[in-house]
Formats: sequence, C-alpha cells, structure tokens
Amino acid sequence: MNLLIHPTQELYGSTAVPGDKSISHRAAMFAALAEGRSRVRNFLPGGDCQATLGVLRSLGVAIEAVSPSELLIDGVGLHGLQEPAAPLDCVNSGTTMRLMAGLLAGQRFFSVLSGSPQLTKRPMGRVVEPLRQMSAAIWGRQGGKLAPLAIQGSQLHHFDYKLPVASAQVKSALLLAGLYSDGLAVVRQPGPARDHTERMLAAMGAPIRVLGLVVTSERPKRPLAPLDTTVPGDISSAAFILAAGLLAPKSHVTVTGVGVNPTRTGILDILQMMGTDIRLNNPREEAGEPVADLVVQHSELRGVEIGGDLIVRAIDELPVLAVLATQAHGRTVVRDAAELRVKETDRIATVAAELRKLGAHVEEHPDGFAIEGPIELRSAPVWSHGDHRLAMALAVAALVASGPVLVEDAECVSDSFPGFERVLHMLGVEMERTE
Ligand code: S3P
Repeated sequence: MNLLIHPTQELYGSTAVPGDKSISHRAAMFAALAEGRSRVRNFLPGGDCQATLGVLRSLGVAIEAVSPSELLIDGVGLHGLQEPAAPLDCVNSGTTMRLMAGLLAGQRFFSVLSGSPQLTKRPMGRVVEPLRQMSAAIWGRQGGKLAPLAIQGSQLHHFDYKLPVASAQVKSALLLAGLYSDGLAVVRQPGPARDHTERMLAAMGAPIRVLGLVVTSERPKRPLAPLDTTVPGDISSAAFILAAGLLAPKSHVTVTGVGVNPTRTGILDILQMMGTDIRLNNPREEAGEPVADLVVQHSELRGVEIGGDLIVRAIDELPVLAVLATQAHGRTVVRDAAELRVKETDRIATVAAELRKLGAHVEEHPDGFAIEGPIELRSAPVWSHGDHRLAMALAVAALVASGPVLVEDAECVSDSFPGFERVLHMLGVEMERTE
C-alpha cells in the first residue's frame, strides 16, 4: 500500500493516539507472569504488539481480546509458561525478541525466537552476551550475534553488568532474567533508558530497585499481582502529530492522553530548544506513568545541536526531527545517535536518502546527521524501506512539500500507529491510498 499525501495549510482538532508500544509489550508480558486475570485497556493493536501476543499464546497464555485494544490476560505465574512446540515468531519486533530472550532464559524448557528478515539482521549479541554471563544457555547465528535464537532454559545466577549502550530492551531482558536468578541481577546504565519495566514490575510487587542509573532485580518472594491498567498514548506516535501541527502554517492541534514519562520526553525538550511552545495540559497519572494533553500550534523553528542523554530520551523521534530540521532556520546537528543505525532500518542512511529525494540538504555522519534549513521540499516519490517511523516522518514532510508526495510501502505504519491515516485525515490532511 502506498500513501499519496497532499500539502496541507491547516491542521485543526483534537485527537488521541494509540497506546504506547513499549508499555503495551510490557503489560502483555508481565500480565502473563502474574497470578490471576489482568485487564489492559488502550493496548496498542499494532503489528509489533500483536507479535508479543502471538508469542505469549504459543507459551500457553490465554488472552482474550474484548476489543482490539482491550485485553483480558490470564496470568500463568512466574513458572507457568509452557514449552512451545514451534519457533516463536517475533515478526518485526525487536522489543518482543529481546525481552522474551531474557524471560525465556530462566524457564525450564527449550525455545526458539525467530522473526522477519528485517529482525534477523538486527543485533542480538547485546542481549545474548550478558545473559550468558548469568549462565544462560543461549545460541544464535554468528556466535549469538543474530537471530534466530535458541534458548535452553536453565538456572540463572547473580550478575553485575554495565550496559555498553543505554538500551531499555537489554535492561528489561536482564531484569526479567533476574526474576529467575538465584542471586541479585545488577544492571548499570550509561544513560537514562526508558524505565517502563521498572515502574510496572515494581507496581506488580516484583523486587525491583532503582538507584539512579543502577537497577536491580531478584527472585520475587510473592506472586506478581495482576494488572488493571490503561496504557497511556504513545509519545512516539504523538510526535508525528505534533510535528505536523508545527509545520502546517495554520494549525491548532491537541493530542490527548499522551504518556510523558521523563525518560521519553526528549522530543519535547528538543522542540522547546527549537523555539516552539508546546503546552502540557491536564497533567495526571495513569498506570504509574505521567500523562498529559499536548497542545501545539504552527511555529517558526530554529536549528539545534543535540547529543548525549537527550538522544536516549528521543531516539525514536529522530526521523521526524530530521523532517522538522529541513524547515528550521539554520543548521541542526544530531550526534551520539549511532543506535539509529540498528533500528528497523539504518535510520541515518534511510532518513538521509529519502529526505534528499525531496530536496533536503542532509549530511550523514557515523553517529548522526546534519541538516541545513529551511528548504522548500519538492514533490517526489519516497520509500519507507518497510520502517514505520520513516513512513510517518515522510508523510509529515509531505505536508510542506510543493506538491503531493507518494510514500511507497506505507502499510508498515500499522506496526506502531494503526489509524495514522484516519487521525491525520480527521485533522485536515488530504491523503489517498494507492496500490
Ligand atoms: C524500546 C526501546 C528502544 C526503542 C524501541 C522500544 C523498548 O530500543 O528504540 O523502539 O520498548 O524498550 P533500545 O532498547 O534498543 O534502545
């Protein structure tokens, strides 16, 4: 499916965005480990989270979808998962594969994690290697660097590990493995990776402790309590709507119920540095996570230089930031973002290649990019490379192009933002599907 998006002068209205992808994955997995029935509302019904549900079902967990975004999950307890008879298909989802690797390492059975060609190219050594240090029996292609991963569950041991990259997926995998360890699992982060795992597991009664950037987990003395929770809207999805609102010359857009966990709000800090005024209304808490309504209007943007911890807190928003940078006055420089190269695609290369097709001036660096703006983007066909965040970033770029932009292979938007087209359309964007 391709999307033909027309330039848009005016964006107006109020919308919610689907549930947070990271929190949805965790809610499903942790509910499966609880004792009793969990209810999860505003679960993200996107492709990545469906992959997690498929894996959990193959492990013997009963999940009833009251609606696509409301689930009843019958927890089997920490030791109730069953050996799967076939490889577990994580499809495109790195979060599913990495977190499940940690969870499966301490089970009493054998399992195999596999996925799409896109996923089997992504680095898994970052999770395999520390799990082996906990005595996990885990194998993969190229000595454990790549999936499929084969795991013979075994007794895990005490372990103290310094993460080489600030990855929430690796941290979460190790904390989950820690629940099955006969000693303390200590994870030391180099920067503030998203902390949804710590918040949710602790709320369920797991012995998770956080001391600055150090997090520990250990075997729980009591069963995990089931969840009754509403997943906040995904700030990573809201970022596309905010960017669209900032770019369209006449706009006033509210995105309601967005998760504003400080480990995720780097994009709001960057937008403020770019000279925008995004209001956070009605702050509240849902599911142990801070939530607010975000209000945005068209704004002149200025180029910014960003790096360090801010990158960790905004990593998934950098493709759409690149689009904003094409319209900002001056030079925008993104450093310390080499992690972009191992996302669904090499997002430094793919963002640069596609924005150049629209006439943008993008310099590619090993750990980021530099973009000179403002530039009038032209009408041209562009390609998603099968990467949901790139497809949506390009759709936002189309709003300020000189003519319609065709985003090819756009069906991947539903990996994280099912309803993206409907939301943009409702706010006033003209777009059509083509085959
Ligand atoms: C995620 C963590 C981040 C992020 C990904 C989701 C998570 O990846 O980019 O989209 O849910 O833990 P890393 O842990 O690899 O940084």
